Amino acid sequence: MNRFRKPSRFAALVAFAAAGLLAAGPAAAQQGKLKVGLMLPYTGTYAALGTAITNGFKLAVEENGGKLGGREIEYFTVDDESDPAKAPENANKLIKRDNVDVLVGTVHSGVALAMSKVARDNNTLLIIPNAGADDITGPLCAANVFRTSFSNSQPGRAMGKVMAEQKKKTAVTITWKYAAGEESIGGFKEDFEAGGGKVVKELYLPFPQVEFQSYLTEIAALKPDVVYAFFAGGGAVKFVKDYAAAGLKTTIPLVGPGFLTDGTLEAQGESAQGMLTTLHYGDGLNIPKNNAFRAAYTKAYKVEPDVYAMQGYDAAQLLVIGMNAVKGDTSKRADLVKAMEGARIDSPRGSLALSKGHNPIHDIYLRKVEGKENKVVGVAVKNLTDPPRGCKL
Ligand code: BEZ
Repeated sequence: MNRFRKPSRFAALVAFAAAGLLAAGPAAAQQGKLKVGLMLPYTGTYAALGTAITNGFKLAVEENGGKLGGREIEYFTVDDESDPAKAPENANKLIKRDNVDVLVGTVHSGVALAMSKVARDNNTLLIIPNAGADDITGPLCAANVFRTSFSNSQPGRAMGKVMAEQKKKTAVTITWKYAAGEESIGGFKEDFEAGGGKVVKELYLPFPQVEFQSYLTEIAALKPDVVYAFFAGGGAVKFVKDYAAAGLKTTIPLVGPGFLTDGTLEAQGESAQGMLTTLHYGDGLNIPKNNAFRAAYTKAYKVEPDVYAMQGYDAAQLLVIGMNAVKGDTSKRADLVKAMEGARIDSPRGSLALSKGHNPIHDIYLRKVEGKENKVVGVAVKNLTDPPRGCKL
């Protein structure tokens, strides 16, 4: 048999097409849409946060021509209900049933801890657009896990410093008993006490309980100089309103991380006016990127963006940088990760870089509620990065 016979017209066409694909690069050869799994809360006390993150993420993708690294996107969505018990099954559904290339989520730290374990076990790329569980970018850090939001202790530390500088001597803290609340209080306490203050009582409720009355009675009796509270979403709306209704707002200042008043001011109305909070974002940050982001978001969704929308937007911005570096070829994982690690993101919050553990290094602003705005009144801590917590990357 002649092994060198002339190729048929069909074989020549196949060879020509294959050569064309190779010339276009592996991304084109790989074909197909990039599958993005959004695992976020769409019901419950954090529902509005999940929606804002989704909107922000999709806005950044649209601004990038609807593609990442040249590939179109197919979204897969799961409502995680902010329920840690359901997290492994939900994450596995997206990874094993839907075969997503990238996982984006979530809001609740307990869910994120379980989700990041599944991502680590399956080596799936995960970008966290909110949940601040300190350990995820500390001892549990991994090459495939990134965060574009914050770590829970960061805004707490900043407020601890500010309150100590304001010469407050005693504080009572109140929060839900789970990683986010505990770590937020931990950050506040450490820097408040380092500055000469004392946390005289830590009050805890189970998540997502909102029966605050007996706790407010206890706060009134304790008469601290200040109350530091971590609540978010629907819980934050109710706590701030109940605090004012109990007559405490005029006697004991209520402060917290910005989650206490972000995305909630419409519902909190008068009860939030004048409150001080600390966060890596402020509505009125007058920088070109924030002005453009706010205008585009409001045009697309007919509502003002909040910190959660901004974090979702930055999750997509980070992915754009990674995907562009590998021209859409996710099999080049090491190059993709390297590009994301070295990213300098033009964020609506200001310039954003990532630490060794893949957590944001950013300014934490001091904000004051004025009308429907969390107005930036200063920088509480510049370029805040987490202390080393045993990340081995
Ligand atoms: C968290 O669970 O990590 C979290 C939830 C809402 C706002 C901020 C942090």
